[in-house]
Amino acid sequence: MPQIINPLSESSDGLFENNPDKTSIEQFRFFHADEGKPLATPWQVALSRAIMLREYQLPEGIILDCACGSGIQIAAYSEILKRSIVGVELNQNRARASAVNFRTIFTERGDDDIDRLKNSVFIVGDGRDGSAIKALLNLKNEPVAFLHLDPARPRNSRAHALSEMEPRLDEVFAGWKPHLKCGETGPAILLDLSPRLSSTQMLEVEDLVEKYWPKTSKTWTWTSRGGGRIDRLALWLGAIAEPNSPRRFVRIPPEPTTPPFILLGGKSITEQESGLNKPYVQPQRGNYASIIDAALVESGLADDWLSTMSIGTYVWAESKGRRPIIYHQNAIEATSSKYANLVVATGRIVDLINTELVIESADKFVDIFLHHDIAKLTIRASLDPSHQPKLQGSFDRQLAKRHGSKKAFLLQNPNGENYLLCVTN
Ligand SMILES: C[S@@+](CC[C@H](N)C(=O)[O-])C[C@H]1O[C@@H](n2cnc3c(N)ncnc32)[C@H](O)[C@@H]1O
Repeated sequence: MPQIINPLSESSDGLFENNPDKTSIEQFRFFHADEGKPLATPWQVALSRAIMLREYQLPEGIILDCACGSGIQIAAYSEILKRSIVGVELNQNRARASAVNFRTIFTERGDDDIDRLKNSVFIVGDGRDGSAIKALLNLKNEPVAFLHLDPARPRNSRAHALSEMEPRLDEVFAGWKPHLKCGETGPAILLDLSPRLSSTQMLEVEDLVEKYWPKTSKTWTWTSRGGGRIDRLALWLGAIAEPNSPRRFVRIPPEPTTPPFILLGGKSITEQESGLNKPYVQPQRGNYASIIDAALVESGLADDWLSTMSIGTYVWAESKGRRPIIYHQNAIEATSSKYANLVVATGRIVDLINTELVIESADKFVDIFLHHDIAKLTIRASLDPSHQPKLQGSFDRQLAKRHGSKKAFLLQNPNGENYLLCVTN
């Protein structure tokens, strides 16, 4: 039998896992029962997502998270949309933690609209059972305006299969379909999924959505906090999808006060997500080489972004993995507002070095660096991990003794045996 928890009155007695959220400028501490911390959405991600959601017109009705975990995301929605919320969680202690976290956020952010707190509830129960939840809330005639779903996944899963998600998408869709408000473009649903879903699995998710709500608008959203890593992959549906934009890339900057960089566009998901053309090209002295953020490339929006950067003709020398590389005609303007930390390194190619990079050849490399007036150089190539620090140390020591003036990096040409010496300033 589901049970209602009121955030206004719920006590934190018996809740023990209390941790700082390092992404919050407010320095929040949140409760996470039964090892729920790794499942929780970081506050900065939850907040920036809520700010993005505010841009869309949501209908009247319930704002619901039917598997709310520690309640971080649903609390962020309430804070930004200024609406009361319903969170459902199977685990009783986590549902209690959600209620306490929501009250903490509400109080520490200093809102005095006590009705928002009073009218919000957390429910210990099965988030798949829409009818039972609605009956319990006595809200028979109020539709669900927006549904958030961030299912749990087995911790060491490799498959990331849809059938492993808890709760499962199809079961939630079936349970809530009669209660969800459905506009012309479909119901407003946000599915927060594993960033490791394959394109086949993404298409499976799309098919499931189509089965329940045909012709629903869809925008896949890749969110990254940097380091070339995708932190979240979500599907925004219906009223919260961007018309004509199947893809969106969101880069959350390191400073919490800077707004995220958002890029929209791209093509619909296909079985083969290779996307970028990778002709066999040789780099030329005088051209530029840049390492592009791997997360942006993974989102399939790198070409859309590069087309805004006035870099002339460019080719992908490497379009996969940790270090995607382009060769291009014109410099990338590091001060451009479009730059958004999406370039890991960029520089003009001043030399092509046809020598193997090993400890024994370090002096030969240093001679070339000095010839080009280099003061400091970073190796950006995949080397044997035991050699990398030794070589980098040797370059640092030798260059520090001389009087070069330029900064540079050394890149391995993905299409050949040689190395590119690239000057950054
Ligand atoms: C990934 S967590 C959600 C985290 C949440 N977005 C946050 O910000 O803290 C998923 C949660 O779904 C819960 N869950 C699994 N099956 C459920 C079900 N049938 N009904 C309700 N909750 C369920 C799990 O206990 C887990 O806490």
